[in-house]
Formats: sequence, structure tokens, C-alpha cells
Amino acid sequence: MEKSKRSFGLLLVLVFFHGVMVMRSNGYEGEEGWGEGEGGRGKGWFMMKDWRQVIKSEGGEMRVVISPRGRIIEKPMHIGFLTMEPKTLFVPQYLDSGLLIFIRQGEATLGVICKDKFGERRLKGGDIYWIPAGSVFYLLNTGIGQRLHVICSIDPSQSLGFETFQPFYIGGGPSSVLAGFDTDTLTSAFNVSQPELQQMMMSQFRGPIVHITERAPTMWTSFLGLREEEKHKHFKKLLEMKQGSSQNKQYDSSSSWRNIVRSILDLTVEKNKGSGSSECEDSYNIYDRKHDFQNDYGWSVALDSEDYEPLKNSGVGVYLVNLTAGSMMAPHMNPTATEYGIVLAGSGEIQIVFPNGTSAMNMRVSVGDVFWIPRYFAFCQIASRTAPFEFVGFTTSAYKNRPQFLVGSNSLLRTLNLTSLAMAFGVDEVKMRRLIEAQQEAVILPTAAVAPPHQGETGFDPFDLTNGKV
Ligand SMILES: *[C@@H]1O[C@H](CO)[C@@H](O)[C@H](O)[C@H]1NC(C)=O
Ligand SMILES: *[C@@H]1O[C@H](CO)[C@@H](O)[C@H](O)[C@H]1NC(C)=O
Ligand SMILES: *[C@@H]1O[C@H](CO)[C@@H](O)[C@H](O)[C@H]1NC(C)=O
Ligand SMILES: *[C@@H]1O[C@H](CO)[C@@H](O)[C@H](O)[C@H]1NC(C)=O
Repeated sequence: MEKSKRSFGLLLVLVFFHGVMVMRSNGYEGEEGWGEGEGGRGKGWFMMKDWRQVIKSEGGEMRVVISPRGRIIEKPMHIGFLTMEPKTLFVPQYLDSGLLIFIRQGEATLGVICKDKFGERRLKGGDIYWIPAGSVFYLLNTGIGQRLHVICSIDPSQSLGFETFQPFYIGGGPSSVLAGFDTDTLTSAFNVSQPELQQMMMSQFRGPIVHITERAPTMWTSFLGLREEEKHKHFKKLLEMKQGSSQNKQYDSSSSWRNIVRSILDLTVEKNKGSGSSECEDSYNIYDRKHDFQNDYGWSVALDSEDYEPLKNSGVGVYLVNLTAGSMMAPHMNPTATEYGIVLAGSGEIQIVFPNGTSAMNMRVSVGDVFWIPRYFAFCQIASRTAPFEFVGFTTSAYKNRPQFLVGSNSLLRTLNLTSLAMAFGVDEVKMRRLIEAQQEAVILPTAAVAPPHQGETGFDPFDLTNGKV
């Protein structure tokens, strides 16, 4: 009795010290400010250049641009670029991270399970779809003779803490999460014979993105050929074997691995009592949407949870901007969200300013470049003189992000008291009025004089499969 008390005490002490150490290391990470990340104080700190090839398969590949880290990032976000060849399938799987996908080019069928219901969604260019962490899905490239390009935001907040994200393949023979169970467990769980099981689990794994050809029907071709109810049944069976992992949304990082393992091991079939948060929703097409802002110099669209309900669960917003050649998104700042942007077409310049009024970045960007802008930081984007500058992006808030413009006819300077403003700038009111009223356009301004003259060198295109390294 006495002895067990003492060892309990020792355990407490150990737990306490462990806790202190964890807090210290977190504290240290938190000390990292801007300019201290990799690359030091280089002007390109707001460019996301650190990427990994996370999937390389016969039918395509996926690259992930890693989120910056540090004190001023309130919500890290990786950006994924998925390329699939014609007639390929991204096998059924679930991830430890939430995905907001944007179809950049091509057509696809997305199979998803939400609230125990199986559904297929046909997706085309401009479509947005939210796949919660732990939710099973597959993606089939249905575009005839066309590559499928998908850009996605990857939210690691529920992840197991690996560098990018962790997929759990349901299909894929020996790589399936089912393959680790012993044969007897599986034959009785599936109620099939050993040869039947073997055929399913021992088929050769050719990577997570596989070709589907009529010539050589694979297990997936036959699966995809099933009627919807059969697919549902089949899928449900698989889902039952991983019950729990999609319900336990709030992983605490230390026990999440155990939870996942336990939930996979837990073969008891428990009804999935979803709270409605993962019901299958339709996709939303951002190209079809009316522009939120438009003038002669460009347009912009921003999607929040009022427009597309699932964004509420994702905690992510989406925006799309198209500037005509030589135009500028006026200097502004986001009071509520960090913005991650990906250049889709053309080239331009991104200028970001530190809180102390010095330039933080002034960078030429082109197709495939990924940049980020911390909330509160003032910034602007300028299209080059030669072509329209198009970029898509994700914001870390699903609620209406009201950008505050510092210049232009809707500028916040115009709403302030002119007398006080003139005093603050140290000029008289006439000069002050002239300064804030000279620009008659708002949001997107014509600025050919400062626009970078030419395309410049092309950046790294994450969709370009021939481009192996940075
Ligand atoms: C297993 O399959 C056999 C037929 O192959 C069927 O008679 C039996 O009811 C099934 N058992 C379960 C538990 O589904
Ligand atoms: C952006 O604008 C240009 C013309 O200014 C147009 O050619 C292009 O298709 C637009 N992009 C999108 C996605 O609408
Ligand atoms: C402004 O802040 C940045 C980032 O903290 C720093 O690197 C820079 O030296 C500062 N500049 C001045 C003039 O204080
Ligand atoms: C602006 O501030 C001045 C000086 O404080 C004051 O006299 C004036 O009434 C203010 N104007 C408005 C529109 O509030």
C-alpha cells in the first residue's frame, strides 16, 4: 500500500515535469516572430516556398506547400496541389486533416460519406468542396483526355502532428488500414471466405492514384461499376470497421494516435450519431457566383459560410481576384483573417508592410507562387502590364472578412475627421483633402505607372510534372 502510494507520487512528479517541458517547448516555438523563420530576414518571408511531394503514383502526384510557423500565424494552413492523369482514381481514404478543395481544371466525381450516407458529387472547374478530417472520400478523374488539377487548403488543426497530413487508405491492398488485421478477424468481420479476402487484400498496390482502364479491370473498376446502393453497402462495411475516428473530432494531440488506433481496432458497430456537421453538401461553384466587387480594372469574389454552409465547419473562407493588366488591389488590411494566396494566371507584385512602416516584402510573383499575408498587415497586389493577374486564396475565417482599405474612394481615411487627420500627417486641411480625395476609384485601381512591365521569369508551377525541383 505504502509502496504503491510512493510510486503514484513519483508518477505525479514525472507527469508534472513532463508538463513543464511541453509548455517550455511550446513557449519557445511561440517566441518565433516574423523574420526569424527559415530564410532569416529575407524579403521573401511571406512567400511559401517550402514544399514536399507527398504522393507520387502511376496516375498522378500531390505536392504540399508547408505552412509558415511562428507567433503571428493564428491558424496554419498547408496548400496542396493534386494532379491526376485522365482516367485515374484517387483511392478511398480518410485524412487526419480537413481539406477544402478547389477544382482548378478538369472534371471529377467525388465519392463521400457523410452521416453514414454515401453520395457522389460531380465537380467541374471552379467548384469548392469541404471534406472534414476523418471523412472517407475518393476522387475519380472523369474529364475525357484531360488532367485534373486540384488546389486545396489543408487544415492541420486536428492532425496527428506529422509534417503535412496523414492519409489512411481504405483501398489499396497491402497499404489499406484493413490489411493490418489478422485474416481470421477480417474473414469473420466481412463474412467472406479466405480466398475472397485474399483477392481483395493482396492485389498489387500501385500507389494511391491508379489508372482505370477497360483493358485491365482492377478491383476499383469493378467497385466503381457498382450501383450506388451497392457502393453504399460496401463502403458502409468499410466505414463500420473504422467507426469512431470520424466522430472524435476533437483530438488532443497526445492521445489522438491512440484514439485512432483504438477506433480502428474497435470492431463494434456503433451507429454514427453525427451532429449534422458532416452531412453531404453540394459543391459550390465560385466562377458562377456574382462578383462581389467589379469595375473596369478587375473583380473579386469572396465566399464565406453565409454563401456556402460547410465553410462554417471548415473555418476557412475562399476568395478569387482577377485584376486587368496594370491594375492594383488598393493597399488594405484584413482585420480578422490571415490570407493565403495562389497565383493562377499572369504575374504581378505583392507588397507587404511591417507594423512599424517598413517594407516587409516587395516581390514579383507568377503562376504557381504561394504567398501569405498575416492579419492586420497592410498590403497590395499589382498586376503586371502585360496580362490579367488572377489569384485564388483561402482565408482563416469562414465569416465575412471585411477588408479595410487605406487608399481609394472607400478608404477609411475618408471617414476619419479631416482636421485630426491633417494634424496627424502634419499638413494643412487643404493638402489633406487633396490627398485623400484625388483617387476616385475604389478597391481596384488603375496604376499602369507602377505596374511591373513584363512577365519576368516564370515561377515554380506545382502542377508542372516535369518540374522536379525548385
Ligand atoms: C454470412 O453469409 C452467409 C451466406 O454466405 C449468410 O447465410 C449468413 O447469414 C451471413 N452471416 C452474417 C452474420 O451476415
Ligand atoms: C480574368 O479576366 C480576364 C480578362 O481581363 C479573362 O480573360 C479571364 O478569363 C478572367 N478569369 C476568370 C477566371 O474569369
Ligand atoms: C521594423 O520591423 C521589422 C520587423 O520586426 C524589423 O526587421 C525592422 O528592422 C524594423 N525597422 C525599423 C526601422 O524599426
Ligand atoms: C473634427 O475635429 C475638430 C477638432 O477636434 C472639431 O472641431 C470638428 O467638429 C470635428 N468634425 C467632425 C465632422 O466631427
